[in-house]
Amino acid sequence: MWPLVVLLLLASASCGSAQLILNKTKPVEYTNCNKTVVIPCFVSNVEATTLDDLYLNWKFGNENVLTFVGSQRTSTTGNNFSSASIVPEALLEGTASLKLDKSDAVPGNYTCEVTELSREGEAIIELKYRVVNWFSPNENILIIIFPMLAILLFWGQFGVVTLKYNSSVTKEKTILLFVVGLVLTIVTIVGAILFIPGEHSTARSSGLGLIVVPTVILILLQYAAFMIAPAIGMSFFSIAILILQVLGFVLSVVGLRLCILECVALHSPLLISGLGIIALAELLGLVYMKFIASNQRTIQPPRKAVEEPLNEFKESKGMMNDE
Ligand SMILES: *[C@@H]1O[C@H](CO)[C@@H](O)[C@H](O)[C@H]1NC(C)=O
Ligand SMILES: *[C@@H]1O[C@H](CO)[C@@H](O)[C@H](O)[C@H]1NC(C)=O
Ligand SMILES: *[C@@H]1O[C@H](CO)[C@@H](O)[C@H](O)[C@H]1NC(C)=O
Ligand SMILES: *[C@@H]1O[C@H](CO)[C@@H](O)[C@H](O)[C@H]1NC(C)=O
Repeated sequence: MWPLVVLLLLASASCGSAQLILNKTKPVEYTNCNKTVVIPCFVSNVEATTLDDLYLNWKFGNENVLTFVGSQRTSTTGNNFSSASIVPEALLEGTASLKLDKSDAVPGNYTCEVTELSREGEAIIELKYRVVNWFSPNENILIIIFPMLAILLFWGQFGVVTLKYNSSVTKEKTILLFVVGLVLTIVTIVGAILFIPGEHSTARSSGLGLIVVPTVILILLQYAAFMIAPAIGMSFFSIAILILQVLGFVLSVVGLRLCILECVALHSPLLISGLGIIALAELLGLVYMKFIASNQRTIQPPRKAVEEPLNEFKESKGMMNDE
């Protein structure tokens, strides 16, 4: 009687050890931000002490991803998974995880099949792809709105220059201002089209670059508008406005540089505040120009205005008092 029981127990024990036990794993996720993707596979009862006894096969559907033959110490990868790799030594500790480049990773179910002499086991691990946006929707809107607003305000300044100072500004200067403004507007619109919301990509990065970098032209245009319009020139206010605008430009270029390196833009506040400051500087410039223009009932000779802005200021004040 007793020998029979012992025999049965032994049989059931050997039956139980005929299988390798692979841990059940939840689906794993990867995003645009993962350079490499690791698909986990763990065996909890490896007994082998040498790789000679082990054999591993990773499959994606019916496609072969990677085959590792322990006795030969060789890994063979499938055609579509040339970057696939494992760490052979880790197999002895039960880790059979697969590493892939993001470019080779395909969402779906991967099968991990491990054989140790006559024992074997298999697990299916689902790999999922999750979309992560470069900028949040609100950030996308602000990044487009601020430069557009700044450009509109420039056109407002252009309007003041051409309408108020029509007689004292040469046609060439007006045309130059118009052409540069037009080119800037077109470049920014192209940038905004490339910069459609979504994941970090080269196209979106170039779009953002086309929106941010040309704002330097706005500084030159605003400077030109101040200089062209008689009675403004380099006053305390115009210099302060230009300094503010340069500050905004520097902030946004630094923000741009940092955001382009990040697949989820963490430095967007820097970029957006820079763009906001540029728009603010344009607004102040326009308000200032309109203020000076409305204080000017009669058009001053342009020469005098550029050479002696201080006298000019006194004169216009004097005129106000006369009224
Ligand atoms: C696998 O599962 C076993 C028990 O089910 C556990 O002891 C072990 O830590 C797990 N291994 C890993 C790598 O998760
Ligand atoms: C992707 O990267 C994240 C963060 O580094 C990491 O937690 C995750 O495990 C990676 N996904 C895969 C499938 O390797
Ligand atoms: C590789 O992938 C392409 C399309 O993704 C598929 O048509 C082809 O059959 C795959 N190659 C192998 C060897 O399965
Ligand atoms: C992977 O397998 C799971 C469970 O068997 C299933 O629910 C899921 O739809 C499969 N995923 C794909 C992409 O086939």
